[in-house]
Amino acid sequence: MTYDCQPLVWYRSATTAGRRVSMSRHNRPPVRIVSESGNNKEGTEMGIEGMRFVITGSAAGIGAATARVAASKGAAVMVSDLASSAEAGERVAADIRAAGGEADFFTCDVTDAEQVEALMAAAAERFGGIDVLHNNAGVHETARAGEDTSLETMPLEVFRWVVDVNAIAPWVCAKAAVPYLKESDYASIINAASTGSQSAYPRNSAYGTSKGGIRLQTQNLAVDLAPYGIRVNCYGPTAIATEMVTRFVQQAEDPEAFEKALVNTSLIPRLGLPSEVGELVCFLASPQASFINGAYILIDGGSLAWRGTVDQIGLE
Ligand SMILES: NC(=O)c1ccc[n+]([C@@H]2O[C@H](COP(=O)([O-])OP(=O)(O)OC[C@H]3O[C@@H](n4cnc5c(N)ncnc54)[C@H](O)[C@@H]3O)[C@@H](O)[C@H]2O)c1
Repeated sequence: MTYDCQPLVWYRSATTAGRRVSMSRHNRPPVRIVSESGNNKEGTEMGIEGMRFVITGSAAGIGAATARVAASKGAAVMVSDLASSAEAGERVAADIRAAGGEADFFTCDVTDAEQVEALMAAAAERFGGIDVLHNNAGVHETARAGEDTSLETMPLEVFRWVVDVNAIAPWVCAKAAVPYLKESDYASIINAASTGSQSAYPRNSAYGTSKGGIRLQTQNLAVDLAPYGIRVNCYGPTAIATEMVTRFVQQAEDPEAFEKALVNTSLIPRLGLPSEVGELVCFLASPQASFINGAYILIDGGSLAWRGTVDQIGLE
């Protein structure tokens, strides 16, 4: 087997504001591994094995599924969630350990900066560092306002709460994680955006504001953290079969019709699975995604790819 590297010149000479920047391994051009049979396997050096994840809001839903998927691929995972979800979070970590993986649980309300700092410190101490911050924790206005989520009826504090959890807290988490991420060779931050980051839905103004915001925050932090070799990406799921979506559906006047409507523009007409989102997060964290930065990646079954409904193409 021979190793054929691309020219080293561009990253050796990289500077920012006149300073030399030390580029971490993921910023280097991929090592081209040429096997004896002559097959090139560019970028297939390794997956996420040995990487250290912090996942917020991971006692349930997409966060818990991502913790399980990441651990099954050999990553160490700090599961974290609100104190009220600690039992479920401990269970996720215990399940991972029982399956031979590495995980722990740490209580953290992401809207509390002190708790967030304690989470990052605990993860770094437990695993010897942090490679991946997955800002997953999120809420929807229906959880506090029920059906009362129109502009005229929803209380201001509900709007502020949604923006706080979904858009301000990821920034707070990033701020607390950066000192540790700077020490990592494969550092990245992965934010939970939504199809609501680019498209409006009825009675969704707080969620839409927060998810539109996190999409642009991702791009801005990708710029600010590029000199440290920290990639920042986000992904936009459509309806995924979790607690949050179930609650959202139940709040509707006609839950059955609402659920059908949720998938009636999807080219894969079903709810997405939490583990499918987990696989995307793990890919974004991996060295295989080393050239993806500042991106917003849809995971929506094709629902925003067109302007039709499934009955038009016989997909019902
Ligand atoms: N499920 C979907 O269809 C969907 C679609 C698009 C985007 N998303 C996003 O994916 C993320 C996860 O969604 P989900 O469907 O798994 O939700 P979920 O309600 O099933 O789980 C969210 C988790 O976040 C935790 N959480 C809430 N507030 C918190 C806080 N202040 N601090 C720490 N943890 C907190 C909850 O306790 C819960 O365990 C969210 O950001 C959501 O907006 C979900």
